[in-house]
Amino acid sequence: FTTRGGAGPLQGLKVVVTAGPTREKIDPVRFISNRSSGKMGYAVAEAAREAGAAVVLVSGPVQIPTPRGVDRVDVESAEQMLSAVQSNLVGADIFIAAAAVSDYRCREIAGEKIKKTSDTLNLALARAPDVLATVSRSEAHPFLVGFAAETEHVERNALIKLNNKNLDMIAANKVGDGLAFDKDENALTVYWQGGKQELSMTSKTALARQLVELIAQRYHARGA
Ligand code: CTP
Ligand code: CA
Repeated sequence: FTTRGGAGPLQGLKVVVTAGPTREKIDPVRFISNRSSGKMGYAVAEAAREAGAAVVLVSGPVQIPTPRGVDRVDVESAEQMLSAVQSNLVGADIFIAAAAVSDYRCREIAGEKIKKTSDTLNLALARAPDVLATVSRSEAHPFLVGFAAETEHVERNALIKLNNKNLDMIAANKVGDGLAFDKDENALTVYWQGGKQELSMTSKTALARQLVELIAQRYHARGA
C-alpha cells in the first residue's frame, strides 16, 4: 500500500479538468455529440491526482469509472459544463480543458419528439459557450492548459489557439482516420510561449503522466 501524492509535483494544488464529449439536445430523445471517449481527460485527472493535486473532474457523458480520489461532476451540455467549471474554479491553480465541447447547440430544443413529416429537416444551430475561452477572459483565472484536436495543420492551428485563447500551454493531437478518439494510445505535441515538447505515441495513462509532469514544470516556472 502506498499513499498517493505524498510529495508529487502538484502537491497542495487544486486542478480542474474537463473531459469527454458534451451533448446538445435536439428534442427529448435526440442530441448532437462527438466521438470523444473521455479517456485522455480521465487519464489526465488521474495523473494530476497521483501528482498530489486535489482534482475536480467536470465530465460529459462517458463510460469510464471515476479515478480514485478524484471529485467528479457530471454534466451534459456545453452550457452546463461552463457553469460547473465556473463554480468549481474557486481556489483552483490549474485548469486543464480536455473535453471535446460542442461548438454549436440547437437554437431551439423541441419540446416533443420531432416527427418525420418532411423529406428534409433543417436544424438551426447557435454557438455554444467556449468554456476555456470564457475562463481565460475572466479576471483572476488559473494557469490554463488547452487541447487542440486537429485533422490538419496541427502545429499552426494549435499555436493560433494558444494565442487566441491566451493559454499557458496547449497539447495538440492529430485526430480522425482511426487516430486518438476512443483509442487507448495517443501522441501529443505540447506548445507554450517559446517552447515545444513532443510526447510520442504511448498509452494514454503514460502520456497523461508525462503531460502532467510537463504542466507542473511550466506551472512552477511561470513568470520566471
Ligand atoms: N473548448 C471549450 N469549449 C468549447 C470548445 C472548445 O472549452 N466550446 C476547449 C477544448 O476543451 C480545448 C480547446 O478549447 O481545450 C480547443 O478546442 P478545439 O475544439 O480544438 O478548438 P476550438 O476553439 O473549438 O476551435 P475549432 O473547433 O474551430 O478548431
Ligand atoms: Ca471545437
